[in-house]
Amino acid sequence: MTPSLFKYNRDYNYSFYGKIKKELQSVKFEEIGEGCSRIGYRRGNVVVKVPINTYGIKYSIAEAFGYRKFRNNPDSKERIYAPCRLLPSGCLMMVYVNGECYNGLPRWALNIDGAQAGTYKGRIVAYDMSHDTVDNVLEDSKLWDNKSHHDLFHSDV
Ligand SMILES: Nc1ncnc2c1ncn2[C@@H]1O[C@H](COP(=O)(O)OP(=O)(O)O)[C@@H](O)[C@H]1O
Ligand SMILES: [Mg+2]
Repeated sequence: MTPSLFKYNRDYNYSFYGKIKKELQSVKFEEIGEGCSRIGYRRGNVVVKVPINTYGIKYSIAEAFGYRKFRNNPDSKERIYAPCRLLPSGCLMMVYVNGECYNGLPRWALNIDGAQAGTYKGRIVAYDMSHDTVDNVLEDSKLWDNKSHHDLFHSDV
């Protein structure tokens, strides 16, 4: 089980997220990649992004906010978010996106940082919008992120 994933947290804490990593591995999640702010763990079609610094929490909030705002529709720059939701711990749960299709990526996806996009259910979605959300979404998401929004954690992906 992974009880720590569902404990409320919004401050980066090395040992707290270390515990989450161990819990994920104990239920067969495997590390699939690391960026500047988060490590991705995968089990089947599910990815959990665990923060490795304070930005990891902020970016996960921003991505969850972005997906909630736009759902499967494009934003003003034609970008489509991968379905995801914020967990109480500040980790982000996201669908697994197959990134092995770089030749087929549309312009909007090539324009996002590192072209971190791929296919999910036959459509192109971005799995790391962290550096591309800072301008608008991160500001909005600050207003959105508070405990009164706990119901969001139970919305379906
Ligand atoms: N939804 C996903 N599908 C497939 N791989 C993912 C997904 N989310 C993250 N990853 C992998 O985990 C790595 C770290 O996640 P990422 O969101 O890029 O974190 P950071 O914000 O630190 O760059 C990615 O580079 C990628 O390899
Ligand atoms: Mg990344």
